[in-house]
Amino acid sequence: MSAAFRIETDRLVMREFSLEDVDAMWELNSDPDVIQYTGDRSFTNRQEVIDLITGYDQYSKYKMGRWSMSLKATGEYIGWCGIKYLADLDETDLGFRLMKKFWDKGYATESSVAALSYGFDQLALKSILGRAAKDNIRSIRVLKKLGMVYEKDFFEHDRVCEQHRLTNEMWNKQKEILPGRNVNP
Ligand SMILES: CC(C)(COP(=O)(O)OP(=O)(O)OC[C@H]1O[C@@H](n2cnc3c(N)ncnc32)[C@H](O)[C@@H]1OP(=O)(O)O)[C@@H](O)C(=O)NCCC(=O)NCCS
Repeated sequence: MSAAFRIETDRLVMREFSLEDVDAMWELNSDPDVIQYTGDRSFTNRQEVIDLITGYDQYSKYKMGRWSMSLKATGEYIGWCGIKYLADLDETDLGFRLMKKFWDKGYATESSVAALSYGFDQLALKSILGRAAKDNIRSIRVLKKLGMVYEKDFFEHDRVCEQHRLTNEMWNKQKEILPGRNVNP
């Protein structure tokens, strides 16, 4: 993967994190409602954001990662979505985080379909997890809309969380009927 890496969906462009995103990522993590269920805290200074971006090694190590997203129509940054390798679990995890003003417009689902397509169709991954706090209604709803199947509860960041899984086999059976399927990786 490289700076030229780009996925397009109907409404979104997804690309690697870059230093152009510093202000937007700062703003994203500054909203308590956005980070409520994530276990993350707000950044305390801009250098932390710069260090996160410059030290982000998922792209080079695993050919995947979270990707910055912007609206095709306006170029506006809306948040990030993508698949990430979790070394401690030896699993790949789907994740998404959007600015609040862009919630409930189907963007997480649309970008997730593109991320799953990349993981299953390009990288030939065997399965991808979706993990979210049980109280995070929107996030759990997105996992269900993607056809992910509940696997187990677990405890993280002082919260009961759910683990959902989608296998490559399940993906191939249902990918044509998922919302926002029209992607161009
Ligand atoms: C989770 C998140 C990414 C979802 O993004 P989104 O773009 O709003 O997701 P979508 O629009 O694709 O889907 C949201 C779904 O939740 C539903 N929803 C919203 N509020 C709801 C409620 N109170 N009860 C039930 N469903 C609700 C929406 O109706 C929609 O489902 P539908 O398409 O069936 O109508 C976004 O809310 C976010 O960034 N949250 C903060 C960060 C976060 O928690 N990330 C996940 C960590 S695991």
